[in-house]
Parts: sequence; C-alpha cells; structure tokens
Amino acid sequence: MVPAAVLARARSLRQEIERHNHAYYVLDTPTIPDAEYDRLFRELQALEAEYPELAARDSPTLRVGGQPLDGFAPVRHAVPMLSIRTETDTTAAGARAFDARVRKELGLTETDPPVEYAAELKFDGLAINLRYQQGVLVQAATRGDGETGEDVTQNVRTVHSVPLRLALDAPPAVLEVRGEIYMRRDDFERYNAKQRDAGKPALVNPRNGAAGSIRQLDPRLAAQRPLSFYAYGLGEVQGWHDAPATHSATLDVLAAMGVPVCGERVVGAGADALVAFHDDVEARRDQLPFDIDGVVYKVNRFDLQRTLGFLTREPRWAVAHKYPAQEEMTVVEAIGVQVGRTGALTPVARLAPVFVGGVTVTNATLHNQDEIDRKDVRVGDTVIVRRAGDVIPEVVSVIRERRPQPEPPRFDIMQSSPVCPECGSHVVRLQGEAAVRCTGGLYCPAQRKQALLHFASRRAMDIEGLGDKLVDQLVDRGLVHSPADVYGLDLATLAGLDRMAEKSAANLVAAIEASKTTTLARFIFALGIRNVGETTAKDLARQFGTLDALIAAKEDELLAVRDVGPIVAASILQFFAEPHNLDVVRRLREAGVNWPESSGLQQSTGRLAGKTLVLTGTLPGLTRDAARDRIEAAGGKVAGSVSKKTDFLVAGEDAGSKLAKAHALGVMILDEAGLLAMLDVDKPDRQPGQPDCEF
Ligand code: IVH
Repeated sequence: MVPAAVLARARSLRQEIERHNHAYYVLDTPTIPDAEYDRLFRELQALEAEYPELAARDSPTLRVGGQPLDGFAPVRHAVPMLSIRTETDTTAAGARAFDARVRKELGLTETDPPVEYAAELKFDGLAINLRYQQGVLVQAATRGDGETGEDVTQNVRTVHSVPLRLALDAPPAVLEVRGEIYMRRDDFERYNAKQRDAGKPALVNPRNGAAGSIRQLDPRLAAQRPLSFYAYGLGEVQGWHDAPATHSATLDVLAAMGVPVCGERVVGAGADALVAFHDDVEARRDQLPFDIDGVVYKVNRFDLQRTLGFLTREPRWAVAHKYPAQEEMTVVEAIGVQVGRTGALTPVARLAPVFVGGVTVTNATLHNQDEIDRKDVRVGDTVIVRRAGDVIPEVVSVIRERRPQPEPPRFDIMQSSPVCPECGSHVVRLQGEAAVRCTGGLYCPAQRKQALLHFASRRAMDIEGLGDKLVDQLVDRGLVHSPADVYGLDLATLAGLDRMAEKSAANLVAAIEASKTTTLARFIFALGIRNVGETTAKDLARQFGTLDALIAAKEDELLAVRDVGPIVAASILQFFAEPHNLDVVRRLREAGVNWPESSGLQQSTGRLAGKTLVLTGTLPGLTRDAARDRIEAAGGKVAGSVSKKTDFLVAGEDAGSKLAKAHALGVMILDEAGLLAMLDVDKPDRQPGQPDCEF
C-alpha cells in the first residue's frame, strides 16, 4: 500500500516537473534553476523506486528512457496518416494553381469570395501520431505506410516538449495529435560537437538525427538526442465536445492544452495570402531555428475540407509548396586550392554539378585542413553539399559507404600546394593557425589589393588618396602589381583613371612622392608581415636600427624583442625568407623610399646582454617604462613573470608574489639602486646621433 501522503507528493511532483518542462521546452522561459529541477526529479525517481505501485504512464521519469526493445510493435492507425500532394511549381504560381483547383472543386465562380486558408511551415523531420486517452499519452506511432506504423512510445516520451498529459479539465476520450518530431539546428550542432569531442560519430543532418533517434531501439540513447515536436493536425477523435470548426482554431486549442504549435502560421484569404506567406517565409528561411523544406497550405474550414475530400491517398484540401532543397548529394571530382585576400589557402571541392539551394553548384568550400581532416573528404567521395541563402556552398559530410575502393588517399593542402598556386611563393602553416598561408604577401596577385591598401594606409606609408576604389582600378588594369609599382605611377596614367580629376591625380602624385621619406618603423609596418602590427614594427625598428639587420635577424635575436614570441618571430622569418618579398623591398628602396637608420640596440655587447629581468613593485625613481627602456638599452630582456630562467628580480615597494617566488627559486634580487649600479658601469648603449624621432 502506498501511503496517501506519498501518493499526493508523487502527484504534485509530477505536475510541478511537467510545468517546468513545458515552460522550458515549449515556452522557452525557464521557471527554475536546473539544479532545483534535478532535485525534484530525483525525489520523484526515489519515490517511484520505493513504491513500484506508483508507476504511471504520464510520469516525467519516463522521459529518461526505459529498457531497450527487440523491435517496434506495429500500430494500426485508426485514421490513416495521409501524405500531401507537393505542388511542383516552386514559384508563386504554385500557390495560385492550388487555389484555382480548390475553387473549381468547390464549384466557386469568380464572383464568389476568396477561400480562407491556413498556411504553415513544412517541418523537415519525422511524422508522429500521439494518442491521448483521457488526456494521457498512451501511444506514439510513426506513419509507416500510412495504414500501419511502429510503436515508438518509449522514445517519444523522451521528447521533452511532448506533453505526457494534456492540460485539460475534461479531456476527450480519445484525441490523436499529429505532428513532426524534428531537431533544431543549434541542438544538432551542439550534439555533433559533443559527439566529435568524444570521438563518436556525428549526425548527418537534423532530419536524419530526428528520424534516427525515434527509430532507436534503446530509449536511453534516444533520450540523449535533443528532439523537439510541433503539432500540425489531428487523427482519431472521440468525445471531444465543442471541437473547433477550423484547422487554425484547432491548433490554437492544442497550444492551449500544452501541445507545442509553431507560431509561424497565418490565416488568410485567397491565393494572394498564400503567395505572401510563401515569399515571406522563404526570405527568412535561414533565420528559422530549424530546417523546413517548404510551406503547407490548408483549406481552413473543416466542412469545406470534407466537401473536397480525398484523391487516392492525398487530401484535395492541402498542398505542400516546397523550396529548393538546401542539401544535395554529389561527387567530389577534384580538390583545388584558392588563395584569399589575406593569403590563406582555402581548399575547394570541385563537384559534379548539382542543383542545390536554387542554383547549380560546382564548387564548395572545405574551409581548411582541419575541416578536411574532421570530415575526411577525399577525391571521389560522395558528399552532402549545403547551400543556404547567400552563404558559400559547403561540403557538410561524406557518405562513407560510397567511398570508392581502393580508398583514395587523404588530401593534404601542404602536399598538394607546397607553393602558392597564384604566385609560386612558399606556403606555411603557423603554429596554432588553421590556415595554410602564402608568404608572398607583397607579390602574390591574390593578396595584391589588400597588401596595397595596407601599404598606403595612414599609419603605414600614409599615401593619402590611395583608397580601395583606386586600388581596384590600378590592380584590375594591371598598372600595379606590387607596392613598388606605386612609385612608378605618373600624372598622365593617374589622370586617365575613372573618377580622377587632374587635380586629384596631381595630389596623389605629390602624396606618393612625400611618402618616400618615412621611418623604418612605418616601413616595416607597411610590409604587412603577418602578426606584425604597429607596435611590434616600432619595437623591431628600435631594436635592429636598420632594415638589413632585421632581414638578417635570427630567431633568437627576434625573440629578444619585446612582445615578440615564437609565432611573430616565425612570421617575420618566413616573410623575409621569401625571395619575392625581398625583391619588392629592393625595388622600393631603388624607387627612393628611404628612412634614417641607426645601429639599433647593441644588445649583444650590452652589460645585460642575454639577461632576463623581471620588474615588480614601485621603484622610487624610475617608472616601469623607464626601467624597461634602460634594461633593454643595455641588452637585457624584461619578462612578465618569475621563472627559473629569470636572472634578476628588480623589486620596488609593495612587491608581492613575484618577490616570494624569486626567493623560492633563488633568483638574485635587486633594488633600484642595485639596478642603476649595474647599468652605470655600462658604457652608453645608444650611439650619438641616433635619431630621437619616431622609431
Ligand atoms: S499536414 C493530410 N502539415 O509532410 C495532411 N504535414 O506528406 C497531413 N509535414 O510526412 C499532413 N509539416 O509529416 C502537414 N505543417 C504540416 C507539415 C506536414 C511537415 C510532413 C508530414 C508528412 C508530410 C506530408
């Protein structure tokens, strides 16, 4: 015997949990924190474990999934689950053709008023019949052949937005709700990311994800898949007093019972309303949180639906009006490589032509090497290609079963393109970067426009008037191939360009001429070396003093520069290792680009050469920056934290954990006076006559 108090508690827990479920999964407005929900859930689980007599078909504890099945029992549908006719014409004419047929079959003439329609989305998932008896979900079945489906009750109970009990005081004896189980795109992405992290197989697309989960024999696995449900109609109904007279009112009432109904639906008059809905949804299709493959139009009044009746297995009162599919299957005939504006080499699948998303697609991006590896795309593979909206078509996944035998080799960008396909410069993949890049930044035609705009920008060579419109023209007409060519442009050439008056051409010539006199820092920045921003360019100029010293710098010398780490050092080395870039630099100098040079910071001979110091606390007479400058001027390096490699800790007032750590590691500790003493014995590092201007 279950004590009355336990029975009451179990009932109240079930109600409360289902209320939170509905708020979370249907209304999208959580009412309690997850932890609190879990607590209620566990309390109910414990009660049910203690009192097996408590078992109930509408208990939320069933949502976690029960015992695996040997197979699904067949379910004969009381009312057949029909399919709907698909309007073949994907343009607005499809909606008009449907309206014309309906009017003809209803015997309406031109003078009769327009027919009222309900228009809704065509969800892309799996059709399901939910059978509620006395308001309790007793069975869920797939469509099957329309007459007989499969009993998937256990799995469907794991779908949180499916109510286990209808929110009704006097429920009909039987109410069958029909609708679609689907998977939201964000849930699909999240689930796949988790699977991949765990090294498990990912789902092909949301539709397969939904259909596959419901057909899972182990409900506990189905419970782990994030599924959703939308109702779009009814099956068998018994004892429903005051049942609505239209389709749209029925959906409203279902929503009031706690059944999820999609808000994206309208009721409208005549073909115009259908066309408007079709076009409106098409424009917003990619912003919807789930996939649809079209819209559905239904005659709204049930009495008219009955008049229209059925044609073999399809109702005459409804039609599906599809959109072009966004995913199709095709074969990868080759894999090419494209060079982007920033020099990134993007692998591109060359495809057997396929009509997808409304256009014929022959190329789809593979993004980068990591993506190729993750999806394991090979030449000869059959793949799913997606083109949604204006987004570049992409290869979504490979259908492994169709891979030719023997298996084609894996594709490797560096192997297929050891040099840039555009300019022949060598390519590199920097540590921590997904992209393989061309190093011929100044020379590569693919990067020309970007390189030129950067070169001319205000903080680089500062050539006023050389903006993107002009760069487009200069490059497109073949007048400028690299930044060095800018210095060969004359008045006549410039004045001949579109939208160039004599006056602005003369101004530009003057700006180009003026830019020749610059600083080393600006010049280094203008080269557009990857990962070398303005500040690093200044530091490099200060450290090395001359361009030739920078070009000749070894990795350890680069690493000695403030804020230059292994990635920046590698970028610099790679840039100057590319002969094409050196050639452009030489031509720029020959064209007259010049800057004052110095002998740089002779760190190798400085008193602190090769030493690493750390600053902490407040020094009485020196700011942090001043101390850093003095140390660097003496060839030392200032690091941010104390380690075994630290030679000296310079500690001021209020020194904290760094001091303690230095003590612990046995690092020598100096105060300001100690630091100055070390610097004082040194000869001045800066050479007389070194420019004091901007580095
Ligand atoms: S009504 C008698 N409405 O499309 C009409 N079906 O062939 C029954 N579908 O697999 C269907 N969204 O699961 C209807 N808003 C919607 C729908 C919809 C998707 C699916 C349905 C079935 C197919 C109809």
